[in-house]
Amino acid sequence: MGGSLLSDKEPNNRLIVVSNRVPSPKGAGGNQGGLAVGVMNALQKADGLWLGWNGEIDGDNNAQLSHYDFDGVRFATFPITEHDHKTYYTGFSNEILWPLFHYRPDKVEYSRESLDGYLRVNQRFARHIKPLVEPDTRVWVHDYHLIPLGYYLRQTSVDAPLGYFLHIPFPPWDVVRILPEYEDLLRYLTSYDLIGLQTEIDLKNLRDCMVMALDARDLGDNVLEVEGRRFKIAAYPISIDVNDAQDLAKKGEQSATGQRLKRSIGDRPLVIGVDRLDYSKGVYKRFQAFERLLENAEHQRGNVVFIQISPPSRTDVHEYAQLRSTLERVAGHVNGRFADYDWTPLRYLNRGYGREAVFGFLRQSRVALLTPLRDGMNLVAKEYVAAQDPEDPGVLIISHLAGASWELKDGALVCNPYDIDGVSDMLEQALAMPLEERKLRWRRMMDVLEANDIHNWSQNFLAELMEMKLANSASQ
Ligand code: F6P
Repeated sequence: MGGSLLSDKEPNNRLIVVSNRVPSPKGAGGNQGGLAVGVMNALQKADGLWLGWNGEIDGDNNAQLSHYDFDGVRFATFPITEHDHKTYYTGFSNEILWPLFHYRPDKVEYSRESLDGYLRVNQRFARHIKPLVEPDTRVWVHDYHLIPLGYYLRQTSVDAPLGYFLHIPFPPWDVVRILPEYEDLLRYLTSYDLIGLQTEIDLKNLRDCMVMALDARDLGDNVLEVEGRRFKIAAYPISIDVNDAQDLAKKGEQSATGQRLKRSIGDRPLVIGVDRLDYSKGVYKRFQAFERLLENAEHQRGNVVFIQISPPSRTDVHEYAQLRSTLERVAGHVNGRFADYDWTPLRYLNRGYGREAVFGFLRQSRVALLTPLRDGMNLVAKEYVAAQDPEDPGVLIISHLAGASWELKDGALVCNPYDIDGVSDMLEQALAMPLEERKLRWRRMMDVLEANDIHNWSQNFLAELMEMKLANSASQ
């Protein structure tokens, strides 16, 4: 392949994955979201290239790509300027699209300046990618930061198969059209051959929007046509590497960190929550539900311990800073009200831990309490299930507003995160659940995970991308 930046191991099968954030070789992994974990696994198999922002700010608008290998994957990254960070990342991506797509228009801070930054950085991504695309390259774009990228690639006459996967929810038409440029945003999406979403609900919402805003024709089999362009939209629930999760959990439990946790908890039942510090995760109401449990279930006082791990996230966004101080206050309040000299009920950890440590914590927890107010998938729910000891598995409580609840509903306790009493009752039920029932429920969830792990997810998506591209080429 002489000098090509892409792998020559699969000459007919080159893959470029593009996302805003790429995993940092320096990072301990405390802030890894679903995208990082899922895509890393997929790329390790495909032997491709991952292109994205390197997480750094640099005044040079024309900084070139840096190439390096990390964890079996080839990376190409670049820094962005402070202004681009403010407008593209903090502004349009996280103060506009994130709240809107999580059904929170009340938190949207719209500005034209942010929109300009969003489009400018997407154009810059296209400029970086264009020279890397060879005749047999597939391009797979991820996440809400890069919706217009497919359009800009097509404008520079990139004719490669273009796939797009949205990791977060896609909201209903009436929410989407709060965004002044909602039609443009939907039109950008039509540049891709395949658009993947997490669940059937997200799929239904996107289809409705395409029909309502762009008069899309439904050609059947999830294929739509807008202004002569055909593209497919489908649900591909993202998953995890089940074997990897099981190994990590066993190692984590045996590690020095895992043993320290065990000693500090003793025989007490442990409840765990793990989420980036984000208002969509519902941690405030979760703390209230835990407080309600301690109010109602006297026998749990002095007994149950709840560990909430919340690494800080998007600290430049005002809402996130505010949430941080609110949670600190509520955690202090719960402990102030119930703690005793030998027992602290709520351990609120405002920092990240390595993956092995987190998996070890998950394995030791009798209950996972995951109550997002809206979540594309929530991979922690799947990780918790995979991390369990089959002979003594814990209980998953998952919000019905998280994508994962659709797949795991036959084994999990599915809650409404807005119903504080309901969540508190469910916690009691989970803590009292007999071993036989725990095993039965866990097996049902494991069956689902084993039937659709992260490898199936990427293979299915990429296979359907090629099918759609071939169908599109044939119809031209
Ligand atoms: O879940 C959505 C997501 O954008 C992931 O793709 C990402 O890894 C995570 O949130 C972390 O967000 P950020 O890159 O803003 O820290």
